[in-house]
Amino acid sequence: MRTAQSCCSLCLCVSVVKEVALQPPNPEWSKYELPPLPELGEPADWNALFGRPGPLIVEIGCGGGRTLIGMALARPAENFLAVERAGEYYRVLRERVTRRALRNVRVTRVEAEYLLSRLFPDECVREYHVYFPDPWPKRRHHKRRLFTSEFCANLRRTLIPGGVLFLATDHLDYYREVLPRLQAVVAVQEHPGPWEDAPLGRTNYEVKYLKEGRPIYRLVGTKGARGEGRGARDPFHKSHCSHSSHSTS
Ligand SMILES: C[S@@+](CC[C@H](N)C(=O)[O-])C[C@H]1O[C@@H](n2cnc3c(N)ncnc32)[C@H](O)[C@@H]1O
Repeated sequence: MRTAQSCCSLCLCVSVVKEVALQPPNPEWSKYELPPLPELGEPADWNALFGRPGPLIVEIGCGGGRTLIGMALARPAENFLAVERAGEYYRVLRERVTRRALRNVRVTRVEAEYLLSRLFPDECVREYHVYFPDPWPKRRHHKRRLFTSEFCANLRRTLIPGGVLFLATDHLDYYREVLPRLQAVVAVQEHPGPWEDAPLGRTNYEVKYLKEGRPIYRLVGTKGARGEGRGARDPFHKSHCSHSSHSTS
């Protein structure tokens, strides 16, 4: 039988989602899944959850985990937390991490807002990756958008000094709303060109939208020691792109 892992690398096609949904429970999942919320503690002890110390790399809304799994394979010494609230994608993510026995990854189905506000202590995250957060285009739904002022404040609180946020969206209205909020908490460098490590796209959505020719708005935000700070470290490259980016702060 074809496995979820063997289907077209790390894409998220309907057949993979359906196939994984039909699989029986696997006792191996417990090595990678966070325990239920009541057992976690607030804030959670992340070094204990990973079984070793180390700043966290967090991807929020990671779908089937294409980007996070690539990073975790390339950087085995770091601790990766994959956050996905949609059950169908979460099951694919859990399956892929388990099949690859990625001991430096934990997966959780928690809401990102809850994670940042309740489960993360101050200064525990080295990198946040948020690619194509749901834009909620209707005005009456804007309040559901992830990047509220409170969320941005928690991003800053939980980043270590020098920690970095990577964000991409195809939604200009959302991008314009988020930009000043993020500029208030981190030093933002807009990154209009493709990511150097992945010119065809880091995530499934980015690959799809680039093929369609949609404009994509990307930024890198760095937490300085006193709220400022420039020159984010790109985790995928030794030198950060400077020719295709410009500072906005
Ligand atoms: C538009 S998709 C993008 C998926 C992936 N990042 C990509 O670029 O291919 C947004 C994803 O974020 C997840 N998501 C949205 N809001 C979330 C939240 N508050 N907490 C956790 N996951 C969330 C959704 O379930 C969905 O899988």
